[in-house]
Amino acid sequence: MGDAIRFLLGEDEHEISGVSPTMTVLEWLRGHARRRGTKEGCAEGDCGACTVVLAEPGGAGGLRTWPVNSCIHFIPALHCRQLLTVEDVAAPDGALHPVQQALVDLHGSQCGFCTPGFVMQHYAGWLAGSLTDRAAVKDWLAGNLCRCTGYGPIIEAGLAAGRADGPDTARRAATARRLDTLDDGRMLDLRHEDQRWLTPRTSDELARVYADNPDAILVSGATDVGLWVTKQHRRLTTLIDVTRVSDLAEIRDEEEALVIGGAAKLAAAHGPLARLSPDLGELMRRFASIQIRSAGTVGGNIANGSPIGDLAPALIALGAQLSLRHGDRERTIALEDFFIDYGRQDRAPGEFVAAISIPRPGATSRFACYKLSKRFDQDISAVMGAFRIDMTEGRVTAARIAFGGMAATPKRACNAEAALIGTAFQADAVERACAELAADFAPITDMRASATYRLESAANLLRRFHLEVSGAPTSATRVWELA
Ligand SMILES: Cc1cc2nc3c(=O)[nH]c(=O)nc-3n(C[C@H](O)[C@H](O)[C@H](O)COP(=O)(O)OP(=O)(O)OC[C@H]3O[C@@H](n4cnc5c(N)ncnc54)[C@H](O)[C@@H]3O)c2cc1C
Ligand code: FES
Ligand code: FES
Repeated sequence: MGDAIRFLLGEDEHEISGVSPTMTVLEWLRGHARRRGTKEGCAEGDCGACTVVLAEPGGAGGLRTWPVNSCIHFIPALHCRQLLTVEDVAAPDGALHPVQQALVDLHGSQCGFCTPGFVMQHYAGWLAGSLTDRAAVKDWLAGNLCRCTGYGPIIEAGLAAGRADGPDTARRAATARRLDTLDDGRMLDLRHEDQRWLTPRTSDELARVYADNPDAILVSGATDVGLWVTKQHRRLTTLIDVTRVSDLAEIRDEEEALVIGGAAKLAAAHGPLARLSPDLGELMRRFASIQIRSAGTVGGNIANGSPIGDLAPALIALGAQLSLRHGDRERTIALEDFFIDYGRQDRAPGEFVAAISIPRPGATSRFACYKLSKRFDQDISAVMGAFRIDMTEGRVTAARIAFGGMAATPKRACNAEAALIGTAFQADAVERACAELAADFAPITDMRASATYRLESAANLLRRFHLEVSGAPTSATRVWELA
């Protein structure tokens, strides 16, 4: 087993041992490596000031690159990877990178506090060849806040950088080869004081290690777990990182279902989910930011049991099944049965989410999902509604309606569903189903929304679904355009 984190910081090889494995990359950069270009704004993944880029061998160009929020990323995530910070972007002779030059030329900075984050996010978009048009640039910036320049010049700078020549392929290939030599394929086992961090490499190894340490905390993208450390100041002792378990990150397009491995990144699942349903694609586009989606996983979004997580309602409405593994045993349950109560899921100690299987909607099915939040970008849902009906000969033969933000768990609206089954899915039946939502849910009032708003908007989402299925014009298109 390896007991040191080996990685490239820019072009320099580094080895870290004897430090807390829950130290964040940001803390290490600013406090230990004395690289202080990377800023801390919120320490919870919201503002983008701390954005850095990670690289590992793989992908189309031989080197896969992605941006992350270093404030909630733990240092073992650096193992066998390259870490690029704002200090690495300019050429060694000091010549500015096209991203930096564009921000200078187009006046994309005033106080400058947010600027390293914007440089890094544009840089990540430039590395990915994705700064192709205004919509793409805006998507790339959804997780970066600027409070004084205004986004106009920053977006223009992104567009200008997108027109510049792309990265040097020979240099990328050389970096990939260097990173390959760092990886000895062994499990990482880091110990520091009362803390231990284990990084199994296969599902079998994960099953064994977790069964042996059933009280350990699983960590995938750490977009939730990171905040337990930075905001709740919790001391986590034994942690098992599932992100290096390559077979757990697989996504399989099967004939009947899309099967997403328990450690598949949200970003990797975005395309396959969008192909399953355009609404799922739009939901993923509005799920946090590219930084969060590049780290966070579908499995983490389910396993955290959040009543306001975005994927659970959508996948419940689609009839998804969850596979859970403990040691050599695997069981499959309906996704809705996983959520027992607030903070309680049907998962035994030592058991992990192995995969989520999402049936493809058939020709007789109609599916839609809608996220309501205060901000369009990078916001948690106040209400998340997902609807699937199957119609045969003009009658509803099956209905699955699920909501987030309406109860202590993501939950089906069984009374509303029953009011629709057997009907012709016309306005009167829809109104009866809307009335039944009050029997299905007793939502709470909190900072995101009042109970009354939640109940009324849940009914309005069902009405909207009905209008869309009936082909009636809705304001939806206009809303997207305005946002
Ligand atoms: C700025 C910000 C914006 C966000 N926006 C959204 C949003 O728009 N919509 C939304 O739904 N969520 C949002 N989130 C929440 C979070 O990003 C998601 O829930 C994400 O999918 C969690 O995945 P992860 O891999 O980072 O989980 P982690 O933080 O690594 O883990 C989360 C939980 O799942 C457990 N776990 C992880 N993997 C497994 C597994 N394979 N088996 C069993 N247990 C496991 C962990 O032990 C932990 O309890 C946001 C978070 C932040 C910080
Ligand atoms: S400091 Fe705000 S996202 Fe990291
Ligand atoms: S330049 Fe001041 S916050 Fe963006």
